Amino acid sequence: MSAAIELTGVTKRYGATEALKGLTMAVDRGEMFGLIGADGAGKTTAIRLMGGLLRPDAGSVRVLDRDPARDHRWMTERVGYLSQRFSLYGDLTIDENIAFFAEIHGVSRYHQRRDQLLDITQLAPFRTRRADQLSGGMKQKLALACTLVHEPDLILLDEPTTGVDPISRREFWKLLSEFLAQGITILMSTTYMDEAERCTRVALLHEGRLLAGGEPSRLRASLRADASLEDVFVARLATKDTTP
Ligand SMILES: Nc1ncnc2c1ncn2[C@@H]1O[C@H](COP(=O)(O)OP(=O)(O)O)[C@@H](O)[C@H]1O
Ligand SMILES: [Mg+2]
Repeated sequence: MSAAIELTGVTKRYGATEALKGLTMAVDRGEMFGLIGADGAGKTTAIRLMGGLLRPDAGSVRVLDRDPARDHRWMTERVGYLSQRFSLYGDLTIDENIAFFAEIHGVSRYHQRRDQLLDITQLAPFRTRRADQLSGGMKQKLALACTLVHEPDLILLDEPTTGVDPISRREFWKLLSEFLAQGITILMSTTYMDEAERCTRVALLHEGRLLAGGEPSRLRASLRADASLEDVFVARLATKDTTP
């Protein structure tokens, strides 16, 4: 079976800034893929290209065997996208937010799915509470539920855990594993190395380029027995800086 996401030699510029410089990477179906890098590395740009919200200046982007920028309607049905500053409607309740997202995705019979998502996320007891009255962790779980209401095959999560407390982060990861077990492909970006460790595979991005990619354990072992992923990052950066 083909990859879920395939970027080949992708370049993207914003005026004089080259945000991605010939990025090549692939995400397999059914994996939990991590796009890892500091602020400005190009994570959001890569995710927006995958979601069809931007077009590359050079190279190609394929998502579930389609061109995401061209097959926009199809993408909306099959892919869920959680933007970095996700927007829930504060004056709408949990139920109403989910209904709103279902409608955006053209799903009218979402009630069973909604109840199932509220169950998994443990938000059911709060369903009539307004979104602006929820804790940070609950907002984030609601945002994830909204991303999944149309039963996508693939979800793109842009820094979903940034600024969330450690306990909520752990809960969020538990949820992700449950959705992964249901066969959903997940790509998420993060700046946290402990989260990178939990991914099946990662791409370490730096200034629009791929520094290293693969299974976290293999990347670590390729450096030395007791290396952390952060060590790999630092080592690759050092080699990069000495090569002309
Ligand atoms: N709309 C934009 N206009 C100009 N420059 C941008 C824009 N969006 C991102 N950039 C620049 O592109 C680079 C990559 O940004 P981004 O993809 O947001 O990285 P990340 O998500 O990893 O922080 C950065 O140098 C950023 O300043
Ligand atoms: Mg970003």
